[in-house]
Amino acid sequence: MFEEKTVLTGIKPTGTPHLGNLVGAIKPVIEMSNQAEKSYIFIADLHALNAVRDSKLIEKWSYEVAATFLALGLDTEKAVFFRQSDVPEIYKLTVFLLNVTSKGLMNRSHAYKAISAENEANDKSPDFGINMGLYTYPILMAADILLYNTDLVPVGQDQKQHVEMARDIAGSLNNIYGDEILVVPEPVIQKVASAIPGLDGRKMSKSYGNYVPIFAEQKKLKKSIMKIVTDSKRPEDPKDPDESTIYQLYQHFAPKAEADVMREQFVNGGLGYGDAKKMLFEMIDSTLAKPREKYYELLANPEQIEDVLLSGAKRARIVAKETVDRVSKAMLGRVV
Ligand code: ADP
Ligand code: TRP
Repeated sequence: MFEEKTVLTGIKPTGTPHLGNLVGAIKPVIEMSNQAEKSYIFIADLHALNAVRDSKLIEKWSYEVAATFLALGLDTEKAVFFRQSDVPEIYKLTVFLLNVTSKGLMNRSHAYKAISAENEANDKSPDFGINMGLYTYPILMAADILLYNTDLVPVGQDQKQHVEMARDIAGSLNNIYGDEILVVPEPVIQKVASAIPGLDGRKMSKSYGNYVPIFAEQKKLKKSIMKIVTDSKRPEDPKDPDESTIYQLYQHFAPKAEADVMREQFVNGGLGYGDAKKMLFEMIDSTLAKPREKYYELLANPEQIEDVLLSGAKRARIVAKETVDRVSKAMLGRVV
């Protein structure tokens, strides 16, 4: 479905990428970029600013996200891979879009409303802790999308509303200034059958501290996997694979035939959790060993990551400038 289309997606550098991110976001993005006519993939560091208050952390996580994509084989000749803040046209377009976006639209943002509701539930002012970066987050995100004439934005369900807002904002500008100025994008909702569980069985997430970093060192990886919480069934007892974090993770890394074997051994009994964890460790470790080497090599040489990101930004700026010029001409009567 991505052939002949321009697709775009951004990844916020808000932590060390984990196995849930790998299966739910990073792998599908790499696959999508292989299929698309043109793809833009970027590290959304400006979007991290509303929450991360330490520039060193933003830099560290940006490099980690970038190195993860590179180590896992993203084709950066094909995809335009860059860091959001390296394309200064984003600042211009954001200011232009602010003026065609109604406050009412922002009031409806789920992300902002959720925090507001939580504040009220805790007897705090509804605006407590909400900065304008968070409140206007959908406008910056619309600028990301509209800057590159994006047709399709593959995102998880939680981001669908933001893409719809980008459609609204593009429609509003086109309505006032002329139909052909901005391409109106569409969301493509990525279906992950179910969230990857973390070590405690809840959804793997940075916020729960139950995650396994994609490139955890071998020893740490083993230790983490051995810590996965299980029930007290004995090896010979039948177990439900769909309720088991071990099998849920295993099926994403093992070839189908091998995943089917573990599934059967769970259903029929005969496989203990300890042995299943060992199988899981070996499967993840062998799948990720090569990219892991590359990942640490890149992190040790951040200038190599910089080179890739900066040459991506150079390519991104060609289209970005054309868009901003079009908008500026329409709104100010001249190119700024
Ligand atoms: P976290 O919950 O760790 O903060 P993010 O919200 O930053 O993760 O998610 C970044 C991307 O990774 C999103 O596209 C999200 O859908 C995906 N993702 C995060 N956790 C999981 C998970 N446990 N299973 C599948 N996909 C996930
Ligand atoms: N908001 C997205 C997230 O939290 C990240 C993002 C920023 C993005 N700009 C984007 C995603 C543009 C798609 C398109 O995950």
